[in-house]
Amino acid sequence: MARYQNLRKSKSNSNNGYPDKKTRSDTNDGSKACAKKQWSKWNDPQPVQRLIEELDDLKAKGLHRTLRHYLRHDATHVEDHVRPLLNFAANDYLGLASDPALAQAFHEGIDAYGTGSGASRLVSGGSPIFSHLEEALAKAKQKPAALYFSSGYAAALGAIPAVVGKNDFVILDKLSHACLIDGSKLSGATLRIFPHNDLNKLERILQSIRASQPAETRVLVVTESVFSMDGDLCPLADIIACKDRYQATLLLDEAHGFGVLGAHGGGLAEELCCQEGVDIHLGTLSKAAGVSGGFIAADRSIIDLLINRARSLIYSTAPPPAILAAAHQALKIISSDEGSRARTKLRENVAHFCRLLNIEPSPSAIIPILLGCNQRALNISADLRESGFLVPAIRYPTVPPKTARLRISISAAHSTEQIQQLADRLRQLL
Ligand SMILES: Cc1ncc(COP(=O)(O)O)c(C=O)c1O
Repeated sequence: MARYQNLRKSKSNSNNGYPDKKTRSDTNDGSKACAKKQWSKWNDPQPVQRLIEELDDLKAKGLHRTLRHYLRHDATHVEDHVRPLLNFAANDYLGLASDPALAQAFHEGIDAYGTGSGASRLVSGGSPIFSHLEEALAKAKQKPAALYFSSGYAAALGAIPAVVGKNDFVILDKLSHACLIDGSKLSGATLRIFPHNDLNKLERILQSIRASQPAETRVLVVTESVFSMDGDLCPLADIIACKDRYQATLLLDEAHGFGVLGAHGGGLAEELCCQEGVDIHLGTLSKAAGVSGGFIAADRSIIDLLINRARSLIYSTAPPPAILAAAHQALKIISSDEGSRARTKLRENVAHFCRLLNIEPSPSAIIPILLGCNQRALNISADLRESGFLVPAIRYPTVPPKTARLRISISAAHSTEQIQQLADRLRQLL
């Protein structure tokens, strides 16, 4: 704190900071009082103290977060400084993050391209591996083209503001992931929210926009195929039919569906044969694909537009090509018989776990256990950790207030015994 005050003091003596403005204003007699008032507003003696109070408030509400470091982790195990834990917190649904073929592709990528891209793709950071991967992604999503981003988050932040602007509308499912909300806010479009999976409300919003706005108003409907904190699915076929009735565009986030659903792992849209009806597919390679990066798959014209407008692509250094080499290998596995076998095993694991806990079978790899109270979720998560299981407590703002939960993610790599062990311990704790 003392160090921070010194910093402020030295700043107030410099010619470059706010005080300089005050000095200039002070030379003008008429505005002297006004400048003084302004300065006292800037000269808050305790800005850091107020931030610390905000942090204390988070602690008091059981909403405080800390980073933990794990010495080793894969789809089924993590090890902290205390003990090894069975991992039920990862999104590595097929166990690909520790697949030797991906590691080899990664090494070969480094040998071929070095460790970094050196510049954004529009400058000198592009390499053939980008187009190889993007062709494979377009094929997986049965769309004419695809574009790789450094993360799923960056894909949402780049894509949404590229396709809608201040005279347009974005209609979001209430449980949409933060990146979809942030991308929508960044676009400057008017935001409308429909209650989770409520098609009637979605239709009423579409109706009212079309009834009140000029015909050229663009309307983007945004939802997820598999909801990240609930594990349930959106009614995709109905959403497509609904948005088509109002000439709206659909952006579907398949972050937790890609690799997990569909005969070739293409996601829910593939499973329901609805690829065509989704205008903009958003996906990530950081979850079932076991690597990192995000992508958009869509018509060529949309991808061309993104290349020209998506700021998270244009103004960011291209990711290391070696990552894309590993991601490409992941895609090969996901669409192969090996991928199909892993999905079967994953479904069996999920069904087994749900049976043991006597709960509805989850249609995805995500199983939430709703507890409501933040502290209860934290306590059970801590008890599980003591017993050797890593299961995160998910709280506001990741989920709505009073819906704190345990989020269990199952992988194809878990053994039947590991799943049994977690279910046994949970039954004792719940
Ligand atoms: C639904 C959803 N969309 C997008 C993302 C962002 O993906 P990435 O981790 O690749 O940035 C996540 C990640 O948590 C997610 O859960």
